[in-house]
Amino acid sequence: MSKQKILVTSALPYANGPIHLGHLSGAYLPADIYVRYKRLKGDDIIYICGSDEHGVPITITADKEDVNPQVIIDRYHEINKKAFERFGMSFDNYSRTSLPIHHETAKDFFLEFYNRGILIEKKTNQFYDEKAKMFLPDRYVEGTCPKCGYEEARSDECENCGSLYDPSELKNPKSKITGETPSLRETSHFYFPIGKYQPALENYVEEMNKKYGWKDNVLQYCRGWFKEGLKDRAITRDLDWGIKVPVDSSPGKVIYVWFEAVLGYISSTKEYSQKKGEPDLWKRYWQDLETKYVAFIGKDNIVFHTIIFPAILMAWNEGEKEQYCLPQNVPANEFLNFEGKKFSKSRNWGIDVTDFLNLFPADPLRYTLAANLPETRDTDFYWKEFQARNNNELADIFGNLINRTFTFVHKHFEGKVPSGGKTEKIDDEMLKLISEYPSRISSLFENYRIKEGVLEIMNLARAGNKYFNDSEPWKTIRSDKEKCATTLNICLQAIYSLAELFYPVIPFSSEKIFMMLNAKPISWNECGKNNLAEGHKLNPAEILFSKIEDEIIKTQMEKLQSEPASVKTEEKISYEDFMKTHLKVAEVIEAGKVEKSEKLLKLKVKIGTEERHVIAGIAKSYSPEEIIGKRVVIVANLQPAKLMGQVSEGMILAAENKEGKLEILTVSELVGSGTRVK
Ligand code: 2FM
Ligand code: ZN
Repeated sequence: MSKQKILVTSALPYANGPIHLGHLSGAYLPADIYVRYKRLKGDDIIYICGSDEHGVPITITADKEDVNPQVIIDRYHEINKKAFERFGMSFDNYSRTSLPIHHETAKDFFLEFYNRGILIEKKTNQFYDEKAKMFLPDRYVEGTCPKCGYEEARSDECENCGSLYDPSELKNPKSKITGETPSLRETSHFYFPIGKYQPALENYVEEMNKKYGWKDNVLQYCRGWFKEGLKDRAITRDLDWGIKVPVDSSPGKVIYVWFEAVLGYISSTKEYSQKKGEPDLWKRYWQDLETKYVAFIGKDNIVFHTIIFPAILMAWNEGEKEQYCLPQNVPANEFLNFEGKKFSKSRNWGIDVTDFLNLFPADPLRYTLAANLPETRDTDFYWKEFQARNNNELADIFGNLINRTFTFVHKHFEGKVPSGGKTEKIDDEMLKLISEYPSRISSLFENYRIKEGVLEIMNLARAGNKYFNDSEPWKTIRSDKEKCATTLNICLQAIYSLAELFYPVIPFSSEKIFMMLNAKPISWNECGKNNLAEGHKLNPAEILFSKIEDEIIKTQMEKLQSEPASVKTEEKISYEDFMKTHLKVAEVIEAGKVEKSEKLLKLKVKIGTEERHVIAGIAKSYSPEEIIGKRVVIVANLQPAKLMGQVSEGMILAAENKEGKLEILTVSELVGSGTRVK
């Protein structure tokens, strides 16, 4: 019997910004763990992803930076691809939806439906911004949701309650480009008759659930949509960025990004096949109805993967060409928040993957995120938890087991695997536990209970440490060397199994452990047995997990509160807006400490002839003596504020240097006090 083919995809991230930890937890890390596990099982699996390079999020970023969207997608495709690599994502292919192969695939599907008369051309009313002279795509319009009253709803979709509605139903619409109230103007679009597929879709969802056990959140979400009734969806847009509609009568229109992005999975697999020199390889996976296709996504993408994409594939399959497999499971995760709040680039809340990996190795992050995946509810990343998972679990439990075992074997057994012949009850119990683990973890991973699986693997390391303690090899080395040898033999067998079981989660560390063991990864089903032969020579041990100091975590938490959003994504302001801020040169004439405060200095400054009191948070960087006489830059028209009971009548400009100290902006004596800075 030939092996079952498995196709795994992760949502294609928009190439309009750097991915952050929330993305990793939602659609990428769980998929990577699943795929790595399946590869160890020996399955025939491919893992496909790529950048989603069309759509409004990209044009919004490009507009903000005043550059062509191509600049944005080139930049973020590279940044995200590299970040994924450093994080250890083992995609078989990471493609781009701007590639010709994708444009062709998307046009193929569109034309197939158009030629078969499936698409319906309809006139609709769409928001038009008179000032910007353009039709406003959904996300350029904001208003109040007609269903739940959420005030930041998009033109046809509410992020809060998940409803889809007609743009004419949106209350208080505003253009996000000009802030004007847009008018509704007639335009025509091609619609995909998704309502027609509702019975088949309902059948499909229930059937897949019955056979493969869908997650409850996904199932309930789908049923909610069916209850509302599926309506036809426009699959074209009035935009210039995207895949041009391949029908002459539609100049200036592109294919709706969600219609083509999901097809990106197919085109990425085609690209993979071309790179491998087997251009038809993709068909073996996609065009085999027996393929086990699993689509990993975040909860905001559910409808597109359980309803819209399956409907597109169903419509195709009704034709005369080769049929496509549909997702067998869509294990969507909830969201990961950051220290109690949503990730937000503009509010500088969160950390992106590249910045994180410049500070810490990938494995502690993979382990922390995996141990806290938002599988059934939203969860949070906390810096303190990251530190604790690294220090108390990876280092103190798993690292400790490895370290003490290797040290002992190198010291007392010439660095060779000791004999494991003579066993007692304690040894047999430990061996039994090790042997049960592969199937125990399999049954969790097979059911997408990744988080539980990961925590359970750490329990084996815990049990290993307990076994080491209870066996007291430091005593038996003198009293009963044979017993001592058995203890260390079993500890090494446990470490070999743990390296294997942990490989999908912390691959970089597992690879180092295999090196230390001087052994190759085994297949999943073989691990749990006594695989290290007596006398097998080990390599020297190395420290796998370094402790993270409090100070480092503290710096990260402080940074979060103080750092402004990056200039690239900041909203632009006009010159007039800038001139509203009165920046002036001021001379510091008196300075002193503020009682009970380590951070604040109380200054008296002179702006021209006017004297003012200013409270500045610079006490950790400057002594009062140092600052007297300096000509600083002050925001002179700031509302007075009270700090530690003292009134402050302005703000001194300063910037943090690389050492975390503040440096105040100063000018020379040639610039008179009171001079405007602009
Ligand atoms: O939400 C997102 O980031 C989308 N770019 C996901 C697309 S998934 C698939 F359709 F490609
Ligand atoms: Zn709503």
